[in-house]
Amino acid sequence: MKRSQVNEILREGDAFIRSFGFLLPPFAYWTPDDMVARRPEISGILSARMGWDITDYGQGDFDNLGLFLFTVRNGRQSDLKHGGGMCYAEKIMISRHDQISPMHKHIVKAEDIINRGGATLALEMFESDAEGNIDRSTDVLVATDGVQRRLKAGEVLLLAPGESVTLIPGNWHKFWGEGGDVLIGEVSTVNDDLTDNIFEDPIGRFSDIEEDEEPIHLLVSDYDKWLTE
Ligand SMILES: [Fe+2]
Repeated sequence: MKRSQVNEILREGDAFIRSFGFLLPPFAYWTPDDMVARRPEISGILSARMGWDITDYGQGDFDNLGLFLFTVRNGRQSDLKHGGGMCYAEKIMISRHDQISPMHKHIVKAEDIINRGGATLALEMFESDAEGNIDRSTDVLVATDGVQRRLKAGEVLLLAPGESVTLIPGNWHKFWGEGGDVLIGEVSTVNDDLTDNIFEDPIGRFSDIEEDEEPIHLLVSDYDKWLTE
């Protein structure tokens, strides 16, 4: 993706989020220079990879295959290993109309995926088989807002604004905005996007950026390059 496209998506996403009365934390609006200047005090943001995350899954077709994410908070893997403390994470995301987030599962992370507003959120779901691959025949058992549901393998779950689904490790899922753009919340186990996304197809998690203008804000995938100690 070109940086100019990332900047444009970032501006549009910020406006969409605000239109629902959801406000991002202060660090969302720091410039790259602000982040460099504040480097000594923001290791918590950098190590938890909090912030903007706009991905085309490395395929260069954001409108059809992509996702807008902002990681609002993220806990500590060490706390998770010890079994207590900051084991949680929160993201706000946007799936545009028919914009696919491709089929994947998580090994560690359980996640509540929440329709925070806008259009319908559609999720196609499968269970894992004994080897962890997609099980194309077994029914899928999931909870939507605490209510147990049984779906056929590959059935599409539709969530209206206010509704959510709890996905546990091993639940394969693919999702998109149905009929329009949708604001999505994610409340989850502490999150490691570098290791805990298993995709059905060989695909990247982050975008390759072509620098054609200055970034208005850094993406989490920019931190290593722009904010090295
Ligand atoms: Fe997921």
